[in-house]
Amino acid sequence: MTDIKNRTAFVTGGASGMGLGIAKALAHAGARVAIADIRDDHLEAAVATGQGEGVNLTPYRLDVTDRAAHSDVADAVERDLGAASIIILNAGIGVLGHIKDASYADWDWIMGVNLGGVLNGVRTFVPRLRALNGGGHVLATSSMGGLVVADSGGIYSAAKFGVTAMMECLREDLAGDNIGVSVLCPAAVNTNIHQHHGMRPAAFADGKYTQSEEEAAQLKRMLSHGMDPDDVGALVVEAIVANKPFIFTDGGLAPVVRARRDALIASLPDEPRNEARWQQDLAMRQAMRDQAL
Ligand SMILES: NC(=O)c1ccc[n+]([C@@H]2O[C@H](COP(=O)([O-])OP(=O)(O)OC[C@H]3O[C@@H](n4cnc5c(N)ncnc54)[C@H](O)[C@@H]3O)[C@@H](O)[C@H]2O)c1
Repeated sequence: MTDIKNRTAFVTGGASGMGLGIAKALAHAGARVAIADIRDDHLEAAVATGQGEGVNLTPYRLDVTDRAAHSDVADAVERDLGAASIIILNAGIGVLGHIKDASYADWDWIMGVNLGGVLNGVRTFVPRLRALNGGGHVLATSSMGGLVVADSGGIYSAAKFGVTAMMECLREDLAGDNIGVSVLCPAAVNTNIHQHHGMRPAAFADGKYTQSEEEAAQLKRMLSHGMDPDDVGALVVEAIVANKPFIFTDGGLAPVVRARRDALIASLPDEPRNEARWQQDLAMRQAMRDQAL
């Protein structure tokens, strides 16, 4: 897809950080942009930021874990701005901790927003997008933690690996519809991610993952050296135009990715390929593809 101009874009978590950077970049490129977010204060500030830069961002309140609300918001965007054909599923919470310590409340909250929020967006917007028959793009924000593992990545990494896989599958699914799909895998970006522990809903109060004020301040300080969200926005617009499968914010991570690849290859059985089994596997995968089409 090459045309951003005059399309409608829908960005979840679009009122802060990377989502706002992406929303503004799309608006500067000529799209009509809807920003959806759970926080009214962020929505209000984001609209003002957009106005300051001479672009309109139309705000919608949405909790991405709320399935019923998704179709209402999609209807409202369609009414206000036209049907969205650039779908950016970016909302997420950077709440880290070790798997061994996690409570059910931690699992349900972190998986619910980071993986459930993306699948709700896919389930709501992809059928509408296909029905438009005019091409478009779907992008979800995963993380470097959705490709390589750090010990305290825990539930966050489990969810983000799911997001990466979801986008990779969807890319094949939608290729025939002229709809591009990308997954954004950022490293450190200077956003409000240090505030996410404080956003835990009452329903998930029984959490074992905690963060002191000092830890939040330390994270904020560390991320102040991260990439500027506006630069991420520019990268994303370029990647949508070029339909890139993966979008990275940091080139210095090659050794980390290589280490994971090498560990996987080293774990494969050291034996010659069983040709009959291999051919059968290929045929099965082709049959599954044919069935899905
Ligand atoms: N900042 C980083 O270093 C970094 C690195 C890798 C991945 N990420 C991912 O980037 C994405 C954006 O986060 P950010 O760093 O820009 O943080 P941010 O806090 O600046 O922006 C996230 C926005 O999402 C909103 N949000 C949170 N929960 C929501 C919900 N349930 N429904 C709707 N909106 C919700 C927040 O209110 C906020 O406005 C997340 O998916 C995060 O996991 C961030």
